[in-house]
Amino acid sequence: MLAYNRVLTAFTNRFSSQPLLFASPGRINLLGEHTDHNEGFVLPAAIDKEVHFAIAFNNSQTYNFVSLDLDQTFSTETIAPSDSGWANYLLGSMAQLVKRGIEIPGFDLVFGGDIPIGAGISSSAAIECGMLFALNTLLNCGFSTVQMAQMAQKAEHEYAGVNCGIMDQFAVLHGERDQVIKLDCRSLQYSLHPLKLNGYRFILCDSLVTHALASSGYNTRRAECEEAVRALSSQFPVQALRDATPQQIDALATQMSPEALKRARYVVAENARVLQACEALEAGDLVQLGHLMFATHDGMQYGFEASCAEVDQLVDIARQCQGVLGARIMGGGFGGCSINLVADEQLEAFQAAVIRDYYTPRRLHPTFIVTQINDGTHQVSL
Ligand code: GLA
Repeated sequence: MLAYNRVLTAFTNRFSSQPLLFASPGRINLLGEHTDHNEGFVLPAAIDKEVHFAIAFNNSQTYNFVSLDLDQTFSTETIAPSDSGWANYLLGSMAQLVKRGIEIPGFDLVFGGDIPIGAGISSSAAIECGMLFALNTLLNCGFSTVQMAQMAQKAEHEYAGVNCGIMDQFAVLHGERDQVIKLDCRSLQYSLHPLKLNGYRFILCDSLVTHALASSGYNTRRAECEEAVRALSSQFPVQALRDATPQQIDALATQMSPEALKRARYVVAENARVLQACEALEAGDLVQLGHLMFATHDGMQYGFEASCAEVDQLVDIARQCQGVLGARIMGGGFGGCSINLVADEQLEAFQAAVIRDYYTPRRLHPTFIVTQINDGTHQVSL
């Protein structure tokens, strides 16, 4: 409750009405990086790092936003892209409602939370989904969580300029406590699976590196995947890399750029790994899950080329530590976090090894985030 009190107190100090409260989480992804925009499978889960929203209509046409974490305010009467980076996540989500014929009266909003920005655990999706969920509730729009995930994804495309897939927004809205989501990003069919870690846990190491490449590199990678699909579809029934086989890629290897070829090989292998990871989880085989995580990292480093020296180093340190079953870069790449599957009793030793061995020219000190798997975006009653 304390966490919600922060936004509630800030709201009542500044505005006169009584707000409604909402919570919207970040996400981790067990496996399946860059498979979502190739219509493949992913295995994410919502976590206990959240953005909290206090919101109430204000009988005007003005939208007043207060970001507690950045200590900044933004007011506007127009729903259009702005110079303020963070306000765009809110405005972009509102624009999706407007496109669907919803009139949004003026409102006051205070939000803030504990999802680190730029760490690759989807603080932006948390904000987009929280905004949509809150307005969907307040205005009784009746959009489903799947529709809201699609709208939040569009907000990211149109207002943040990142041509992302649907994994983050879907996970944020559909997460459930202690459950992993297996999502088919083509059909959007999904199932929830209990995560039994039996003495192990996922810990994130934040490299604190946020590369300028994160959004431009993402869009380039996506375009390279599309190039591979164009080549493959000239001879095979391939609509997205999800449909391709390694043999088909070999057959058309000379018809695409070396970059597109590498990206295609990685995506096809990664999609197969997600399915193997599901079997491993089902069988309680965490050793196998760990192997798959390391293999994903190798793929992200050498095939998709979306890792970076700092996160490679974090993963290399993890490889040397006792009790670490798997480690890999998580999320879009080019910085952010590694996700590590570590035995409970080795957690401290693992953290000590990272602190001791991680070296960057800028002498960044990595931070650790121990996550619990938690519920998706929801309204909170105090
Ligand atoms: C980012 C994007 C997602 C997904 C991942 C990589 O988080 O927002 O859609 O593509 O990168 O798996």
